[in-house]
Amino acid sequence: MTFSMKDELLARLLRAGGEPISGQQLANDFGVSRTAIWKHIQVLQEEGYILETVKKKGYVLKSAPDRMDAARIQTHLETERIGQVIHHFGSVDSTQILAHGFVRDGAADGTVVIAEEQTAGRGRMLRPWESTAGKGVWMTVILKPDIPPHQAPQFTLVAAVSIVNAMKALYPELEPEIKWPNDILLNGRKCTGILTEMVAEADRIQALLIGIGINVNQKIEDFPQELHTIATSISAELGREVDRAEFVAKVLYYLESYGDQYVKNGFSPIKALWEKASATIGRHVRATTLREVIEGVAVGITEAGVLEIKTASGEVKGVYSADIEL
Ligand code: BTN
Repeated sequence: MTFSMKDELLARLLRAGGEPISGQQLANDFGVSRTAIWKHIQVLQEEGYILETVKKKGYVLKSAPDRMDAARIQTHLETERIGQVIHHFGSVDSTQILAHGFVRDGAADGTVVIAEEQTAGRGRMLRPWESTAGKGVWMTVILKPDIPPHQAPQFTLVAAVSIVNAMKALYPELEPEIKWPNDILLNGRKCTGILTEMVAEADRIQALLIGIGINVNQKIEDFPQELHTIATSISAELGREVDRAEFVAKVLYYLESYGDQYVKNGFSPIKALWEKASATIGRHVRATTLREVIEGVAVGITEAGVLEIKTASGEVKGVYSADIEL
C-alpha cells in the first residue's frame, strides 16, 4: 500500500484498537520528531477524529467520523490490486478530472481517486452530478485491463454488477436493481450512477476511468427538491447510517474479482449477472433516443451492452444510448 504519513499514523491508531501508542514510539518508527507527529494528530482532530493524550502513555483514538480516508478503506480491503493506491480528498471539482491527471502521471492499475465532496461532479450526457459533502461515495477507479478499446463499455456493466453485489453482501435487506444502462435503483429510485471514460490508442486501452457516484448516507431532505421523488440513498432505504469506508472496500473487492473474471472468461458470466439484477429486461419500456422514441418490451442486452427492445410489430430494435422510462 502507498500512504501518506497521516494515513500511516491513522492506520496505526486504528490497529491499536483503543490502546495508547506513545508519541516517542511513533516518532522513532516514522523517523520524524515528536512535534511532527503532534502536527499530524492535530490534522486528524480537525477532520473529526477524537484523540486523547493519556499522560506518559501516548495517543488513543476514541472515535472516528464517517470519512473515507485511505487508511479507513484499507482496514477492510480484501483486494490485491484495486485500492492499493488511494488518493483521498476533502473537496474537489470532480474525481474524474483528477483521475485524468493521475493517468497522465502514470498511475498504477487499480488506483482509486475518492473525495468527500465534489463541486462539479459530472454525470452521463454532460449532466451535473449532485455530490453532497460527507454523505456519498464519489470515486474514480483507474483500471488498465488488457482488452481492446471496443470492449471498454462492458466494464461499465462489470462495475454495475460489482456495486449491486457489494450492496447485497453488506446490506442483505436491500434489493438493488440495475436500470439500463447503468443506474442502480433501490425501490425504484436512483441511488448510483456510473460514468466510464477511456484513454486509448488506436488498438490499446491506456486506462479506463470508472467514475462511480453512490448516494450512501443522505437523508431525502439532503437532496435538491427536484430529486426528492427520483433519488434515494442506501441509508434512506435501510433506516440507518452505514460505514462508507467499509462499503467502498466491498465495492473494490467485487470490482477486482468480476473484472478479473471478465478479462479471463469473457462477458457471458457478467452478462448473466447483469440480466439477473436488471429492472429493465422483461419490462415494457419507453426509450427516448436523440432521434426517436421506441416503445416495447426490453428483451435483453447484446455483448456490446446494447439494449434490445421488441416493439408491438415484433421488430427488435437496438438502443445504444437513451433515457429509459419503465
Ligand atoms: C450518471 O450520470 O448516472 C453517472 C454519474 C457518475 C458520477 C460519478 S461521482 C465520481 C465521478 N466523478 C464525477 O465527476 N462523476 C463520477
